[in-house]
Amino acid sequence: MVLQWCSRAAITGPKQGDAVIGRLNHVAIAVPDLAAAAARYRDLLGAEVGLSQEVPDHGVRVVFITLPNSKIELMEPLGDASPITRFLQKNPGGGIHHLCYEVVDIIVARDHLLAGGARVLGPPKIGAHGKPVIFLHPGDFTGTLIELEQA
Ligand code: CO
Repeated sequence: MVLQWCSRAAITGPKQGDAVIGRLNHVAIAVPDLAAAAARYRDLLGAEVGLSQEVPDHGVRVVFITLPNSKIELMEPLGDASPITRFLQKNPGGGIHHLCYEVVDIIVARDHLLAGGARVLGPPKIGAHGKPVIFLHPGDFTGTLIELEQA
């Protein structure tokens, strides 16, 4: 059976357990107006919308929306040098900015990725959940910016 073969291959792959991604922690959406976006999720979608929080280290103000199986991170620029300002210039109405996957150990994951030739964007930083995160170059992951968060 194909499914059995796939899972067996994943388990026995060389050093694969070191950096294997776990849960989808969140999908991040850059928005031009955080309050308006949060209200839309709350009022139209009936979502569980958290409080706005500033993450100066990452140049964003965020609101997390809790779904039964994951989260949505709505974010707007914070400060003049926000890394999402340019993204919003290209996508004025907002758009999906990154996906965040959980890993067991951020340093083990980073070293595994670097050894495999992936580009890691800067050193680990503390993310919006108070846990260490790193970002991976979208050019190495099918055009999608990836955040890894230590679970
Ligand atoms: Co994120």
